[in-house]
Amino acid sequence: MAQGVMLQTDLPLPRFGTGKVRDTYDLGNRLLMVTTDRLSAYDVVLPNGIPSKGEVLTRLSAFWFARTGDLIPNHLLSTDVADLPDAAQPLRDQLAGRFMIVRKAKRIDFECVVRGYLAGSAWGEYRESGSVCGVRLPPGLRQADELPEPIFTPATKAESGHDQNISLDELKNHVGEDLGQALADASIAVYTAAAAYALDRGIIIADTKMEFGLLGDRLILIDELLTPDSSRFWAVGDYQPGGSPPSFDKQFVRDWLERSGWNKQPPAPALPPDVVAGTSQRYLAALEWLTGQALAL
Ligand SMILES: Nc1ncnc2c1ncn2[C@@H]1O[C@H](COP(=O)(O)OP(=O)(O)OP(=O)(O)O)[C@@H](O)[C@H]1O
Ligand SMILES: [Mg+2]
Repeated sequence: MAQGVMLQTDLPLPRFGTGKVRDTYDLGNRLLMVTTDRLSAYDVVLPNGIPSKGEVLTRLSAFWFARTGDLIPNHLLSTDVADLPDAAQPLRDQLAGRFMIVRKAKRIDFECVVRGYLAGSAWGEYRESGSVCGVRLPPGLRQADELPEPIFTPATKAESGHDQNISLDELKNHVGEDLGQALADASIAVYTAAAAYALDRGIIIADTKMEFGLLGDRLILIDELLTPDSSRFWAVGDYQPGGSPPSFDKQFVRDWLERSGWNKQPPAPALPPDVVAGTSQRYLAALEWLTGQALAL
């Protein structure tokens, strides 16, 4: 298991990208994706790391990639330290448990979002227009209500600024009819299987974002999958439509940040130890509820 909190990496390898949470290195036709313990809230990375977070996200993605491999192939090749490149071997103990070696794909530049519940931007869109990304919904739904069936609500992947929701037809105009439909079908299939599984274990997956890529002309799932960072998780016990149910993982952080009076502009204040520990516990609980895997703090 990875030791200590990791906020950033500096491996002697070419960098593919640095996100809010992950450091990705270019291995030629593969990528080395390292999930740090960084946490973002309101789109700002916090100064504290959350112990075990990187490992929880990595294990959850690997778990879901294995479980959904029969629905759609994916990019994951290995999470085994023996497969780390030589340049990363000196840091193998710190990297263990928190990296994925994946196939580098040609990314499809749209976020494939599936929603089973009415939350976030979809709730705002519904209140204004009665539909979400061009999908007409029944009248009278409350915030956080379960939808009659999961809906596919793609979004552009903006390089900067906010992603923009689009309709399936607009997606098809960009990528073509067949690929657009394949993205919708695969996304709905993955969400439906995962949401049913999670619900049995006490977690509602309200919505989730997937990314896809092409290997030649083969469509595969890439990026992370069904983690708390890419999805809205609610505990079944906290679920109450008509308001915004607390986020399974980040609620402590959001509550504390609200009370702190922070103006949500960078830099964010440092979190107190009890908030860090409580958040870490929630990530570990999500992993254990969903996969049965227990990690010690
Ligand atoms: N197999 C893959 N092939 C090619 N690109 C990939 C693959 N898997 C993920 N990616 C891309 O690599 C990047 C991973 O970056 P990461 O998620 O760390 O940051 P980000 O998405 O830019 O920012 P953030 O998620 O913090 O908002 C993303 O742009 C993602 O689309
Ligand atoms: Mg990302």
